[in-house]
Amino acid sequence: SSCEAFEYKLVLHRDFHLISGIHSPEVVDQIHNFEIQDSDVFVITYPKSGTIWLQQILCLIEVKGDATAINDQLNSDRIPWMELLKSEKQFVSAPSPRIHVSHLPYRFMPLGLKQKKGKVIYVARNPKDVLVSYFHFHNFANMLETPKDFEDFFEKFMDGYVFGNCWFEHIKGWCSQSDEMNFLYITYEEMIKDLRSVVERIVSFLGTNLTPQQLNDVVEHSTFKNMKTNPQANYQHVPALLLNHQLGAFLRKGTVGDWKNYFTVAQNERFDEVYQEKMKDFPLSFVWDM
Ligand code: A3P
Repeated sequence: SSCEAFEYKLVLHRDFHLISGIHSPEVVDQIHNFEIQDSDVFVITYPKSGTIWLQQILCLIEVKGDATAINDQLNSDRIPWMELLKSEKQFVSAPSPRIHVSHLPYRFMPLGLKQKKGKVIYVARNPKDVLVSYFHFHNFANMLETPKDFEDFFEKFMDGYVFGNCWFEHIKGWCSQSDEMNFLYITYEEMIKDLRSVVERIVSFLGTNLTPQQLNDVVEHSTFKNMKTNPQANYQHVPALLLNHQLGAFLRKGTVGDWKNYFTVAQNERFDEVYQEKMKDFPLSFVWDM
């Protein structure tokens, strides 16, 4: 029936969950062979780690902090998701420098990255806050199944039964290959603590230059408060078919440590155990609270 066309489902494609009706497995498979250029930039995140924050920051860096220069186009059109591309042509014909975001695991991404073509900015966030943010997202995203309750979503996240799959695999997959690429690792928590210095690192990684005033402008237009009321940045434009704006927002809370309001003691202990086990040989640490 015609209703089925609007039934979004998680479907496993080569061991990775895609959302049917939104992601095309054919195009996702082509990405691996996309030819990339040195000027290409890929912002890689596990969902709910600051993707749309980076979109805003990179849009602003491009125009040296002049927000009026980018108020004619949505950030998501300027910096699209790789996995939402409709064809290779769309990638090829994007104006240079081509900047994209993606939640895809490393194994799906353009092979050229390994020859140090293009640049990767990986944004990580402490996974307890990711889980809570993703729980809320599932409650207002019509293309994702609404969890029965927090407990239900906790289990799904731990099992990797979400778009993005297992958080641990995502970060390890990308970061274990970081030496092979032009790679910048930043965290959500650093951005919360000192956005200006993170923006400075991004600017220098991109090989550009901003004056102190331009840096201030980028930071000012990238605050939670300003993004929330910015129609190019806040994702209120997404049709109700996909997001129920009455039930939530991309710019929800924007803090570190909200997980403490949701995790039970038992869930926290279990999470810590899994974290210790999965990350034991991995040299990353996170700020869990501020
Ligand atoms: P919360 O749900 O914890 O508020 P993504 O863009 O990857 O989907 O991530 C969304 C998360 O990033 C949300 O987290 C959102 O509030 C947060 N975020 C986006 N822009 C932000 C900003 N300028 N400052 C702080 N947090 C921001």
